[in-house]
Amino acid sequence: MKMRAAVLEEFGKPLSVQEVELAEPKAGEVLVRLVACGVCHTDMYTASGADPSGYAPAVLGHEGGGVVERVGQGVTSVAGGDQVVTLFSPQCRDCIHCMDERTNLCLAIREQQNKGYLPDGTPRLSRDGEPIRHFMGTSTFAEYTVMPEIALAKVSPEAPLDRACLFACGLSTGLGAAMYTAKVTPGATCVVFGAGMVGLGAVVGCRLQGAGRIICIDMSDDRLAMARDHGATDTWTGGPESVQRVLEETGGFGADYTFEATGLVQVMQQAVESARMGWGLATIAGVAGKGETLDVIPRWLITGRRIAGSSFGGVKGRDQVPELVDRYLAGDIDVDSFISHRITLDDVNKGFDLMHAQDGIRSVIEYA
Ligand SMILES: NC(=O)c1ccc[n+]([C@@H]2O[C@H](COP(=O)([O-])OP(=O)(O)OC[C@H]3O[C@@H](n4cnc5c(N)ncnc54)[C@H](O)[C@@H]3O)[C@@H](O)[C@H]2O)c1
Ligand SMILES: [Zn+2]
Ligand SMILES: [Zn+2]
Repeated sequence: MKMRAAVLEEFGKPLSVQEVELAEPKAGEVLVRLVACGVCHTDMYTASGADPSGYAPAVLGHEGGGVVERVGQGVTSVAGGDQVVTLFSPQCRDCIHCMDERTNLCLAIREQQNKGYLPDGTPRLSRDGEPIRHFMGTSTFAEYTVMPEIALAKVSPEAPLDRACLFACGLSTGLGAAMYTAKVTPGATCVVFGAGMVGLGAVVGCRLQGAGRIICIDMSDDRLAMARDHGATDTWTGGPESVQRVLEETGGFGADYTFEATGLVQVMQQAVESARMGWGLATIAGVAGKGETLDVIPRWLITGRRIAGSSFGGVKGRDQVPELVDRYLAGDIDVDSFISHRITLDDVNKGFDLMHAQDGIRSVIEYA
């Protein structure tokens, strides 16, 4: 079939919205009609050329929500008409990692996905016979996509997809960091560094876990105001004195749980140093620049602090994204407030500009 999609032709250039071809789903694959898609930093990062593993031409986009149009042979977990959220982090339910509750890093299709192909090593995207690669296994800056069944979370038919799509990346990453990676305990003191989509998600996750105190630190007053709306009990402007201030406010010990959602290695260090002596856990969700390293004095660890990394919030996508969407439907998560701009696919580059200017939390592309 022919469809419109935003193609990354050349790094550092705007995406080009054009007509491309999409082949039928093969065995184990699903054709999804996209209804909405959030614009995330990772799309902009790859488009800029800063990501050393990036490739072109490719159709970007990974925060998709859509409706199943057709399924390939052997697909049993979704059927035509089902509402789905796309998963750049799949869940095959069969590999050694999927069988273990300690991680969500499914091993089933990693290699081909990283190269831009579907699991059989070929793309479904093309233009005049020339192959175009898939991005993050999702390629949701497009009217349709073909994805493996194991990379689709079937969500409630009641969920509005323009909001549910945020659970495909940033929101679930923040929520999950608190709920599944750190497993924040009731009454705990938490510090969240960063109040973008990921940090605000972490604030909500801490609240849902029953944290006693949630300190959110950011540079933007507007974002700190949002953090308060979502459950932060204290909001501070960030800076070099953040660690000292956390220590002062916690009897000199530090916080039970800290979260880093900025992508800045200096802030990751602050998250480690403001975690509590004895049992404090620093969860790192931000993606640092290539080659950057995190500086940690070993004594901070000997004295009982721990560091955890969190990809997609530790969320096992097919099982847990539907549960998180249900909590949104139950009124536990105010998703609407995260959507700052609604745009069309043709405006996708404007979505990047808005993100660059830190104008709002999320722009969502709506497909007609
Ligand atoms: N682990 C994952 O699976 C995953 C998924 C999505 C995004 N990410 C990463 O998470 C990070 C956050 O993403 P986002 O969309 O929320 O980004 P964002 O840029 O919208 O938010 C980052 C926030 O950090 C704040 N900040 C800057 N300096 C600070 C400081 N010194 N102290 C406190 N706050 C400071 C900024 O004001 C900004 O609001 C990025 O690095 C992104 O790449 C990771
Ligand atoms: Zn993302
Ligand atoms: Zn797996």
